[in-house]
Amino acid sequence: MAAYYVTTPIYYVNDAPHLGHAYTTVAGDVLTRWHRQRGEDVWFLTGTDEHGQKIMRTADANGVTPQEWADKLVAEAWRPLWEHLEIANDDFIRTTEPRHTQRVQEFVQDLYDKGEIYKGSYTGPYCVGCEEFKSPGELLEGDLCPIHKRPVEWLEEDNYFFKLSEYGPRLLEFYENNPTFIQPASARNEVVQFVKSGLQDLSISRSSFDWGIPIPWDGKHVIYVWVDALLNYATAVGYGSDQEKFDRVWPADVHLVGKDILRFHAVIWPAMLMAQGLPLPGRVFANGWLMVGGEKMSKSNLTGISPRQLTEHFGVDAYRYYFLRAIPFGQDGSFSWEDFSARYTSELANDFGNLASRVAAMVGKYFDGKLPAPAAETPEISGALATAVTNADRAIGDDLDFAGGLAHIFDFVRKVNLYLSEQEPWKVAKDDSPEGRAKLATILYTAAEALRGVAVLLNPVMPATAEKLWVSLGAEEHLGPLAEQRIAEAGTWGRLPEGATVTKGEILFPRLES
Ligand code: MSP
Repeated sequence: MAAYYVTTPIYYVNDAPHLGHAYTTVAGDVLTRWHRQRGEDVWFLTGTDEHGQKIMRTADANGVTPQEWADKLVAEAWRPLWEHLEIANDDFIRTTEPRHTQRVQEFVQDLYDKGEIYKGSYTGPYCVGCEEFKSPGELLEGDLCPIHKRPVEWLEEDNYFFKLSEYGPRLLEFYENNPTFIQPASARNEVVQFVKSGLQDLSISRSSFDWGIPIPWDGKHVIYVWVDALLNYATAVGYGSDQEKFDRVWPADVHLVGKDILRFHAVIWPAMLMAQGLPLPGRVFANGWLMVGGEKMSKSNLTGISPRQLTEHFGVDAYRYYFLRAIPFGQDGSFSWEDFSARYTSELANDFGNLASRVAAMVGKYFDGKLPAPAAETPEISGALATAVTNADRAIGDDLDFAGGLAHIFDFVRKVNLYLSEQEPWKVAKDDSPEGRAKLATILYTAAEALRGVAVLLNPVMPATAEKLWVSLGAEEHLGPLAEQRIAEAGTWGRLPEGATVTKGEILFPRLES
């Protein structure tokens, strides 16, 4: 079976990660874990983009070589953050690794041999922040980059060019035949308009500095950092080195990208693959921007917030949950402490955390911690769980609608709360008759079994919390490890057996410190 292959952008190592980078990576991780729980073979790749002028200049400014700078940032900032956020990537590629640089040279040489590359000269604006050749028409007043709001530089260089302009018609045909290739729809429309307006050939080398992969046939040039970077998706899975792995994993099912780098992934990248005759990716999904004060959050405008500032306060799982729940994937969204705190308290601590601890406490108190068998069916809850599973699976697993999927899961959690407040088990517990005990058993079994389903559904999003719940329900002993639970079975009612040992574990979402 072909692997389900998910990628994040590879991040520039000029600076430490902020919330915006972590946003894309967490989304990729949740998608990955979801598909793993569908029982699929998933390959999740992330990494770092280490060449180019931006990194060279940062290293210069810090008095070290670009390689030393990259090594330091990867070791001290990027890898530790992904570990901290429980990112379950299968590989981490760095573009300075030989497994990458050698294959990139081969790829570019192949295109050159095929006549896809010619020598020319480039005159025009370039934004080092974006590492992008800009067209004069898109600049803001004063020749500012529309993204970085800083002056572009004017280049006049001999460069090698890729015949991108010839690929317009084939790209448009591909978009037409694959309507979900670019998502969301707004992103697709933008790209289609852009390609229809006519493509220019792309400069794929630079000759005024040397921090990059040399052009194999002309050592005075280094390969343009974006051509180098895009190829990570191929070199990391064995392109040109491990054919068996490449056949198993390639092409990517989902490239997650920020909308700022959509054109590279939806125009240049497929054209490069077409030129080489390689299969094209399934989907490029552009997430929106996390904004601060109406601007894209970034280190360069000093609005970059470190994820650790938030995880220290809210915990890692709440962090993983919050952005995906609060912002419809594909749209821009703002971060605010107030909104995060409000959702933490109402959704995570009250609706979900309290439910889990109340149920465990009542099974402890009324049944000595042994899950009783239900005496009757409770179709209003078992049916709602099955529906939540179907809806969440479609939303998260198929549509990358994380906010919608989480809403389905939390609607179900609220339904279980409502069920308990209607059934009032604490009053039923006062009735010692066999009927009273049977009723109480049904209520508590229903609530615990509902939580079993919730633990499975929330595991991709909040793995540590879901695990605590799984343990507290006594599920591991009877059903096995949580990570091996299938999404499809999450909604199969009655999997928790009578007699499971339910314990009141730690509080899932402690009260926030003010
Ligand atoms: N190195 C390139 C990508 C090469 S991929 C072959 C690059 N790196 S980056 O570090 O500048 O940013 C990468 C990604 O980080 C963005 O595309 C986006 O996914 C994420 N984000 C960075 N800032 C962001 C926000 N403020 N909001 C949301 N995501 C943002 O571009």
